[in-house]
Amino acid sequence: MESNHLPAFPCDNLTADDNGHLRFAGHDAAALAEKYGTPLYLLDEARIRRNCRTYLDAFKAYYPAGSLPLYASKANACKQLYRIMAEEGMGVDVVSIGEIYTAKKAGFDLSKAFFHGNNKTDFDIAFAMDNGVGTFVADNEEELAAIEREAAQRNLRQTVLLRITPGIDTHTYEAVNTGKVDSKFGNAIATGQAEAITRLALSLPHVELRGFHCHVGSQVFAEDVFERAAVIMIDFMADLRDTRGFTAGVLNLGGGYGVRYVESDPHLDIKEKIGSVSEALKAQCEKRRFPVPVMHMEPGRSIIADAGLTLYTVGAVKRIPGYKNYVSIDGGMTDNPRFALYRSAYTCVAATKLNEPCTLPASLVGRCCESGDIIQEDVVFPASIRRGDLVAVCTTGAYNYAMSSNYNRIPRPATVMLREDGSDYVAVERETLDDLTNLDV
Ligand code: LLP
Repeated sequence: MESNHLPAFPCDNLTADDNGHLRFAGHDAAALAEKYGTPLYLLDEARIRRNCRTYLDAFKAYYPAGSLPLYASKANACKQLYRIMAEEGMGVDVVSIGEIYTAKKAGFDLSKAFFHGNNKTDFDIAFAMDNGVGTFVADNEEELAAIEREAAQRNLRQTVLLRITPGIDTHTYEAVNTGKVDSKFGNAIATGQAEAITRLALSLPHVELRGFHCHVGSQVFAEDVFERAAVIMIDFMADLRDTRGFTAGVLNLGGGYGVRYVESDPHLDIKEKIGSVSEALKAQCEKRRFPVPVMHMEPGRSIIADAGLTLYTVGAVKRIPGYKNYVSIDGGMTDNPRFALYRSAYTCVAATKLNEPCTLPASLVGRCCESGDIIQEDVVFPASIRRGDLVAVCTTGAYNYAMSSNYNRIPRPATVMLREDGSDYVAVERETLDDLTNLDV
């Protein structure tokens, strides 16, 4: 049986103090649980800003003026995060009027927002235009026609990128593998549909076609995926210039760089990665004598995942002789559905018992009335783990709060932001029981 003292943390904002307490971003996890209650989402503000700056610096170093990384706010959206993005000078990727509205309420300059989605309704399109969303990333011909109609009514010319599927298989899990030809997103180069939608866009008087977008997948570690995407897209753009006389000036390569959830996940040096993509891109531009476009990427996970941590309190510890053990916590698939959906790996620790050997293998399970409500299988906890103990699940900043639900009428946890100076503040309040019933008539 595995027995170790210090767990292998996936990120350097996680440490253990002499008392065996977890410190996250330099803050004592137990003190935060005491102050705010559990379950509790924590966000490391300095880490978020540092992750943004990695992209901003790389873009400045490698890409033409006007190039900008966009935070994919689907990964975690609340007003404070849009404020941080504004302060850092990031653009944002938004996918719904809810995200647009949240960004607007935060005072985010929506001219730096890129509006995604494979099925924007007429209402969504009108809402985005009326609120000054800068760029639409159009997914299909019906949507383009609707953009044309709404823009004509407002007597404006809407800046548009077209979503293209470059036909790349990223070998991540199916639910996040989006760059393949067979996808609900975008228009495949291979089938001629990418060219067809470009022709349509160029014919529409109220559509200002600036360039193209592709997104190959999420949690991507594979060596050269973005390099290949860049080369395919530059070829596509150069072909269009040759055949249609249209020289696109903008290329958005989407999001997708992977993060470390567990120690065995590889480390990605994002700045180095972007440098290597820029080399492949520039080489292809050179080869095709095509001007290097203004570049965007849309990182979500790699901005926010390792800035997050969730704290829970243990309720029951159930040992089933001859079968297995269960550690039940006061949250679950309602605040983190990623294991239930994708069997995603997480590093889970007993946050006040880091100096005890871990000898008790157990499934870490939630409180929902559903057997699939599992946060992680095969965790090894200290044998002393019991009701009242604190459990931390690491690297939960991305796609946890964003995908949370009120299943079983469980209120969502608060999000507390941790500052570098040791102070903390609430970014999202804990939902109350009245929040759950307020819309009931
Ligand atoms: N751009 C587009 C067009 C996207 O569809 C996505 C993610 C991103 C950017 C950001 O990708 P990232 O850098 O975060 O990998 N719920 C799943 C992830 C779904 C990702 C969807 N699109 C999960 O929890 O793993």
